[in-house]
Amino acid sequence: MIDLTGQLHVVAGAGGGGIGTAACVMLARAGATVLAIDKTDLGRTSAAEALDDYGAHHHVVQADLVDEGTVAAVLAEMSAQTGPVRGLVNVVGGITSHDLIAPLLAIDAMDIFDRLMRFNTVPTLAASRAIARAMVAHGQGGSIVNIVSAAGLTAMPYGAGYAAAKAALINLTRTMAVEWGGAGIRVNAIAPGSIATAKIGRQRFDGDADEKDRAAKTVVPLGRRGLPGDIAGVALFLLSDLAAYISGQVLAVDGGMLARPPYNDVDGLPVFMTDPALRERLLRS
Ligand SMILES: NC(=O)c1ccc[n+]([C@@H]2O[C@H](COP(=O)([O-])OP(=O)(O)OC[C@H]3O[C@@H](n4cnc5c(N)ncnc54)[C@H](O)[C@@H]3O)[C@@H](O)[C@H]2O)c1
Repeated sequence: MIDLTGQLHVVAGAGGGGIGTAACVMLARAGATVLAIDKTDLGRTSAAEALDDYGAHHHVVQADLVDEGTVAAVLAEMSAQTGPVRGLVNVVGGITSHDLIAPLLAIDAMDIFDRLMRFNTVPTLAASRAIARAMVAHGQGGSIVNIVSAAGLTAMPYGAGYAAAKAALINLTRTMAVEWGGAGIRVNAIAPGSIATAKIGRQRFDGDADEKDRAAKTVVPLGRRGLPGDIAGVALFLLSDLAAYISGQVLAVDGGMLARPPYNDVDGLPVFMTDPALRERLLRS
């Protein structure tokens, strides 16, 4: 039921080998023409390789999304060949291992906060402005999907700047949805839980993958970390007409992680369940 044949969709931050690259592939498989944008040469190459199997009509551009003029010019050139832009997936964001270990009282916490706030909000806002202007001009509406994080819905000790920035992006998503709704533009956010992604080009806060897989078994009800395709599939749904009446929403795609009660202990049982016989019986079941 999802057929995007002939539609132009943009993936902003396309080449990391993770969620953005999976979104490119998912869109191309659904028939869309993809405009993939990434800042780095490595990102451009990686997105181009991923799209290679799906036809020669896609376009991969190396550009900084913060430069709205360049993005608008690339889009205008591409739209002239393929028709108006119908969708945008905003992927840029994240946190490095260095910035993760930043208690609020650390000496450099303000610099780190500043950097994370900027990186996780400004490219997405800039790309959204450039694409929304084009959508308003062509008058056919469209759909924008912002990748936020489950961290934007909870506290994040030692990574406050990342969580605060993602919370800000959730709020921006709502404001975009309200300001641009009259032009038929839907704007939604996906909040991924822990996603196993490639490590192309930069150090991440992923840590040891096996260790993270083990941890996921205890905190994720579905018992595994997510895959980039788990997020890309939901982005595809939100871009499509199946989601025609959804706007201003944030959808957690986290294997059920955020639904866990905060009072569960390491065994996954409520802390107030202290009867050893009962615990033993429940753990065995
Ligand atoms: N991986 C996870 O577990 C996880 C969990 C929750 C949320 N997220 C969020 O998902 C998103 C994608 O994560 P990922 O690890 O797949 O991404 P990634 O880092 O692999 O890819 C992002 C790409 O954006 C590009 N980029 C950065 N700044 C840019 C700019 N100004 N202009 C153009 N391109 C730019 C980078 O070169 C990179 O290729 C991020 O926003 C992240 O915060 C990830």
